[in-house]
Amino acid sequence: MAQQKISAPKGVSEYAPPRSSAFEFVRDSLIAPASRAGYQLIELPVFEDTELFKRGVGESTDVVSKEMYTFEDRGGRSITLRPEGTAGVMRAVIEHGLDRGQLPVKVWYSGQFFRAERPQAGRYRQFYQVGIEAIGLDDPAIDAEVIAIADAGFKALGLKKYRLEITSLGDLQSRAAHRVDLLKFISTLELDEATAARAAINPLRLFDDKRDEMKKAMQNAPLLIDYLTDESREHFNRVIKYLDALGISYVLNPRMVRGLDYYTGTTFEFVHELLGAQSGIGGGGRYDGLMEQLGGQSLSGIGFGLGVDRALLAAEAEGVIGSDAFVSDLFIIPLGDEAKLQALTVASALRAQGKTVEIAFGDRALKGAMKGADKSGATYVIVLGESEISTGTVELKEMKSGVSTSVKIDSLLEALEK
Ligand code: HAM
Repeated sequence: MAQQKISAPKGVSEYAPPRSSAFEFVRDSLIAPASRAGYQLIELPVFEDTELFKRGVGESTDVVSKEMYTFEDRGGRSITLRPEGTAGVMRAVIEHGLDRGQLPVKVWYSGQFFRAERPQAGRYRQFYQVGIEAIGLDDPAIDAEVIAIADAGFKALGLKKYRLEITSLGDLQSRAAHRVDLLKFISTLELDEATAARAAINPLRLFDDKRDEMKKAMQNAPLLIDYLTDESREHFNRVIKYLDALGISYVLNPRMVRGLDYYTGTTFEFVHELLGAQSGIGGGGRYDGLMEQLGGQSLSGIGFGLGVDRALLAAEAEGVIGSDAFVSDLFIIPLGDEAKLQALTVASALRAQGKTVEIAFGDRALKGAMKGADKSGATYVIVLGESEISTGTVELKEMKSGVSTSVKIDSLLEALEK
């Protein structure tokens, strides 16, 4: 009896060929600027102790209160699939004592994250982020550098139709002063129970309420940016000055609320114009109390996470990415057993020199194999048969022009490089 097919779980992003090569290109382009700025890879588990996210990300956030994939493992421990990367990085930095060494600690990461959101275009339950964190330096210049690295990633992809939105959420003192007035303002509003509960934990969340009536109600709410202490204001002004000097354009958005509670000071988001509702292609900011919150010393930090899935959608929407990014240098068609052996040897030697080489296995007739070569998009093709092996010479055919040249098998590398 035929077995039923099994589908992927709802709302996950996955990439099969040929689109996977575009995904790979986007992921690698986005994060390349980080290693050029001295950030080193940190590779972390995708599941952590649930407590890490409750304490790190904050219980008033949707991410923690509604969207975590939490389960009990076989030892009865509460485990959560990571919904974001920063808390795990802080956990690892403390655990490995990196914060006791050279500061700032500068790391990058790349991988899957999990949030049980309602799936829609650009919003998945498993999605892919690349990110960086710089821990232990409170210099506004590093804020600007972090933002510049994200911007360089998007530019490397060829994206143009995006903007950087930025604000400052201030230090503890700024926030305390603002909170008093904001709570006073909120007490004049009529809120449903759930909203009131969220406001009680973090009143800033109400700026993030997408309902029209709430947007209207919050129109005249006091803005945090007007409550910055001199120190916070000076820090933010310097970040802005550096961005100006770097020629990075931005829009000030004093109503920005990030979906995670740890942010302080400089906070930013990259928004793409062609993506509709899920337009955030990246975001980040400072999180100056987070390390202490997680049981470490009191060190500041700043970083970003970029959404690779959404950046790919953005690149496709702008038409800056081709679908045929993967192209082999050479496609070898062996005819017969002896030729197969020779093809394997030639391919290994060329691959060792960095060439991408495919072999048409499976004893197809020449015509069918040629079709395969054509479909593969390979730049060159050779046929290896008895006569080629005995003469040690092949016809190297350039697929695009159809032009063939006789080449010694031993000189294939040089010929491919011409
Ligand atoms: P975030 O803004 O929650 O920040 O996520 C960063 C990016 O991940 C978003 O801008 C978006 O592109 C992508 N993203 C988030 N959720 C989804 C989803 N459900 N489907 C597809 N893409 C999604 C953070 O996660 C912080 N850890 C960033 C950070 C690092 N802040 C400081 N350091």
